[in-house]
Amino acid sequence: MPYQEQHRPQIHFSPPGNWMNDPNGLVYYRGEYHLFYQYYPDGTVWGPMHWGHAFSRDLVYWENLPVALFPDALGSIFSGSAVIDRKNTSGLQTGEHPPMIAIFTHHDKTKQQKGKTDYQVQSLACSNDMGRNFVKYKHNPVIPNPGEPDFRDPKVTWNKSLQLWIMVLAAGQKVKFYGSPNLLYWDYLSDFGTGAGDHGGVWECPDLFPVKAGNEIKWILIVSINAGAPNGGSGTRYFIGYFDGVKFTNDNSEETELWLDYGPDNYAEVSWSDIPEEDGRRIVIGWMSNWDYAETVPTTAWRGALTLPRSISLRATERGLRLCSNPVSELKKIRNGKQSFEFNTDTIINISGLNEILMSTSLAENSAEEFGIIFSNSRKKKLVVGYNSRLNQFYVDRTNSGQTSFSPTFSNKAVAPRLTTDNILRMHIFLDVPSIELFADNGLVTLTAIFFPGEKFDSLSFFQTKGTVKNTQCVLFELNSIWK
Ligand code: FRU
Repeated sequence: MPYQEQHRPQIHFSPPGNWMNDPNGLVYYRGEYHLFYQYYPDGTVWGPMHWGHAFSRDLVYWENLPVALFPDALGSIFSGSAVIDRKNTSGLQTGEHPPMIAIFTHHDKTKQQKGKTDYQVQSLACSNDMGRNFVKYKHNPVIPNPGEPDFRDPKVTWNKSLQLWIMVLAAGQKVKFYGSPNLLYWDYLSDFGTGAGDHGGVWECPDLFPVKAGNEIKWILIVSINAGAPNGGSGTRYFIGYFDGVKFTNDNSEETELWLDYGPDNYAEVSWSDIPEEDGRRIVIGWMSNWDYAETVPTTAWRGALTLPRSISLRATERGLRLCSNPVSELKKIRNGKQSFEFNTDTIINISGLNEILMSTSLAENSAEEFGIIFSNSRKKKLVVGYNSRLNQFYVDRTNSGQTSFSPTFSNKAVAPRLTTDNILRMHIFLDVPSIELFADNGLVTLTAIFFPGEKFDSLSFFQTKGTVKNTQCVLFELNSIWK
């Protein structure tokens, strides 16, 4: 049976073998959610990049397909996106249905090693058979390098009102926008980033899309940053603003808390293109690791996994608009047994280790300074998920969660601010063999972290300090593996 190795995720996507990093080319087409990803098929550390490929009909169960894009004379295949060219603007359609076009970065390692700066360019590949086979465009690259050493990760979307393709890509510590009528010829539009947001490291894997906020439309610009994330290393943040077809204007000049995920393990999170309008969701997925230790995590047959697919939306809070991320509702189909509990520190509950937990409590009636859930196993390893009401912080503590010595920065307690003063505090948790995702306050704060306990966490208990937790409801589901 595949997907049975130690530490193998059971409710998340991971490649059948070898190295993966960023999700790429996320596109929905004719009933299939395509997932391409940065893949090195010949080893379990980063190497010459290919695009691995899988698809799903429901965002829950995944089917692996052969490698979609291989390195060629222009270089290896770095991150990028995919779109359906519905009007055949590119003229690359050969069959009855519109083509799927992948837009990616060609990375020329030889040029880089020679000290040149023009080693990253943007290229296309086209599939006329639902993503099963791609042919690289014969006039690649479609955007040559303008003299920027870091120039990569193109994300393309169709702008309906302009009837233009808009591309956003990462360039050093900013992004650049380009526009094109046909995906083949691109005009430079503008830059965004100097003086805005965080600059602890290079910007990567941007995304740009509109989201409804009441009757208004806001534009979200996602940017991944390595390093400088809230809990160290790499992380994914966002800006809220307006894109007028040429440039992006940021609504918030001083904000520092717009992180799509506060945990250490959600990088390169980007959205699916071409989700049908009648569905209306904006669905994102991220790489569940961190460049600080991604290459040394203790897995053998493969390295890397993705987060759960999440649906995102804007919500008005006391601090202004914020993005909420919640697991897609399709995941309810892997729920198995359901149990309800009181919050009681004397109870120990046996769990399967693949669980979904929903807990809500009224802060007005609680006096505990700190409270939460401990997952543990017979090796005395534990993972603690909690809330500190004095500091207004959620946290995931993996300091005693199992193997941690493979990296000096791995053993940590990741914290996230609470972004609302609602009386009811909610925690929605997904526990997999090597990962936890906390969606707090209906997804206003998310915290994703990986761990390696050696033996699965099979007990759940509650804790509280300096007072008593009252009026708490807990519901626990067992989950079925998606790989059986
Ligand atoms: C982000 C990233 C991208 C790049 C890819 C290479 O994790 O560094 O910027 O395209 O990975 O694998």
